[in-house]
Amino acid sequence: MNIIITGGAGFIGSHVVRLFVNKYPQYKIINVDKLTYAGNLANLKDIEDKPNYKFVRMDICDFDGIYKLMQDEKVDGIIHLAAESHVDRSIKDPFTFAQTNVMGTLSLLQAAKLYWDGNYEGRRFYHISTDEVYGALEMTHPEGIKPPFSTKASSGEHHMAYGDKFFTEELKYQPHSPYSAAKASSDHFVRAFHDTYGLPTVVTNCSNNYGPYQFPEKLIPLFINNIRHRKPLPVYGKGENVRDWLYVEDHARAIDLIFHKGKIAETYNIGGFNEWKNIDIIRVLINTVDRLLGRPEGADMDLITYVTDRAGHDMRYAIDSSKLQRELGWEPSLQFEEGIEKTVRWYLDNQEWMDRVTSGDYMKYYEDMYAGR
Ligand code: NAD
Ligand code: TYD
Repeated sequence: MNIIITGGAGFIGSHVVRLFVNKYPQYKIINVDKLTYAGNLANLKDIEDKPNYKFVRMDICDFDGIYKLMQDEKVDGIIHLAAESHVDRSIKDPFTFAQTNVMGTLSLLQAAKLYWDGNYEGRRFYHISTDEVYGALEMTHPEGIKPPFSTKASSGEHHMAYGDKFFTEELKYQPHSPYSAAKASSDHFVRAFHDTYGLPTVVTNCSNNYGPYQFPEKLIPLFINNIRHRKPLPVYGKGENVRDWLYVEDHARAIDLIFHKGKIAETYNIGGFNEWKNIDIIRVLINTVDRLLGRPEGADMDLITYVTDRAGHDMRYAIDSSKLQRELGWEPSLQFEEGIEKTVRWYLDNQEWMDRVTSGDYMKYYEDMYAGR
């Protein structure tokens, strides 16, 4: 197969590209990425010279460019991850989110529809979405209860659910942020292209990911870096909001499985039944960074700084991924405490990566490279 992976220079995309390039030498993997602030080719250094990998710098909104690329590369699969992905940025600049997440997705759909022209055998358009499209769940059990399900991801000492309801595939969409509204809109377009033109689509909605190569504007890498440098940790509101966390490589494994075995026109939710209040994760991060740096454990608790809450801050996300587990046999491979330890170690060991990102050097490198300097 010749597969376009969009957003392959970003956090999750880079893990998906790495998995596909290493696991499928017989495929050609074409990473299409605009290299916005969130794209960083340093995330793919270890595979960039592989013969089955190609990078193309392109905006997914460039319909003509995408259509021509599909013809030139005889593309039979698209795994679509490119998006504006940060809620706080979407609150400041919603237009960019509508442009990339909605118009960009539409441009890919239309190019695939025209190029495949009804010959859908062996073809697939896989759209990666988020659990945030379902809106927010209530915290009916703020102290936590034993959840109805567990997986390897949630098998540690902390095994909690903070409400009775979970996001299932049948739930009505109720996005609250401009980010989730734009993702919800793109999901609707993907399903509309299946229902109207028969395009062989599949959609997945995943919970919060964590792991190496995440841009340090998101909670976990931002806080690891701040703890290391003893900078304040800006906790929104009371830190009571709940997110459901999955190690990024487990998401990439699910994407591989669903791309090959998922049913056309289906939706699968991906998550590890692993709910955490932000403040509890932050305490784990402080203890882990302190321990790994040889500081007394918990010495940096005073960095916690409560700040004004995020506008429209969703209270609780919790995915029910039992359909994916039942139908395709997927399970997370990593327990959360192991994943966090691995993640903290990675950021501490890769300070140069972090410094180039936080200083903005990585962007200058591309601008120079593409200007031929
Ligand atoms: P990211 O912000 O780290 O990476 C996004 C990538 O897309 C970057 O490389 C960027 O350069 C590229 N991009 C942005 N606009 C583009 C455009 N117009 N044309 C081409 N490329 C463009 O995002 P991420 O966290 O890796 O998320 C990837 C996907 O997974 C997104 O669709 C997101 O909605 C979804 N998702 C993310 C999470 C999470 O926790 N991060 C959870 C569930 C779903
Ligand atoms: P984030 O990593 O931005 O992911 P999302 O908003 O998509 O879930 O945020 C995770 C949680 O952490 C969310 O409840 C907001 C909170 N948060 C803070 O309290 N402080 C911060 O500086 C950031 C970036 C997030």
